[in-house]
Amino acid sequence: MSSATSVTSPSTTLYGGKAGRRVTVRDIAAAKERGERWPMVTAYDAMTARVFDEAGIPVLLVGDSAAMVVYGYDSTLPVSVDDLIPLTAAVVRGSARALVVADLPFGSYQSSPQQALETAARFMKEAGAHAVKLEGGRRILPQVEALVSAGIPVMAHLGLTPQSVNAFGGYRVQGRGQSGDELMADAKALEHAGAFSVVLECVPTDLAGRVTSALSIPTIGIGAGPDCDAQVLVWQDLMGLTQRPAKFVKKYSDLAGEMDRAVRDFADEVTSGAFPTAEHSYS
Ligand code: KIV
Repeated sequence: MSSATSVTSPSTTLYGGKAGRRVTVRDIAAAKERGERWPMVTAYDAMTARVFDEAGIPVLLVGDSAAMVVYGYDSTLPVSVDDLIPLTAAVVRGSARALVVADLPFGSYQSSPQQALETAARFMKEAGAHAVKLEGGRRILPQVEALVSAGIPVMAHLGLTPQSVNAFGGYRVQGRGQSGDELMADAKALEHAGAFSVVLECVPTDLAGRVTSALSIPTIGIGAGPDCDAQVLVWQDLMGLTQRPAKFVKKYSDLAGEMDRAVRDFADEVTSGAFPTAEHSYS
């Protein structure tokens, strides 16, 4: 096998597969064909990106959730392209294997396919993103088609799309009853338009399972039950930093507790004079 072939041949497994080259959208398509499930997490800086990348996480999402977990807003609406580009660039620099997906923030793609193209191009040129994510179904199809024709991989996002929180009247489960048929039609239209994957947020398990079976592109669930091809969580939620996490969050660590303990130990040793000792000082 020539080195050129090995650079582009599909990796064996998405999660924990060999480093050496970036995961691509072809690898993600191949995982769906194999029926392999995979994890995605958010990242917003180089150091955490490196930890997740070295753990074998194949896809890192620089979510507009940065509005809340990085910038301290109470929704994703206020964050701008200029806020997210430096975070995306840091995640790309901090990772070697993961495919890095940049979320297009509210107001940066809805007005026209041209606007979507200009915003996505900034994330790719200025930050080195490998793909972009947009919220919405058939209403943003022209944007998805324009991006795909320009060679930009698109991750779609359906269900509870947080940029529409005001239209939904709060963070509520979407797709119950008749609206499930609308969501299914949106998912099929996005696949047809060329999206390489679709996030399903806060939708009933049964609907997420039916969408997953109906599509040949992977579904990535967050509050969408166990039948999706992949699962995503915001890293601060899964690590236990978030104060009031949603029902769909499983806490895999108590980072808030651990950080509280560590910073109190540091403060106590500073005030008592126990830190620094000779070990942490220069002669
Ligand atoms: O912004 C984000 O973090 C997201 C994920 C929750 C899917 O869109």
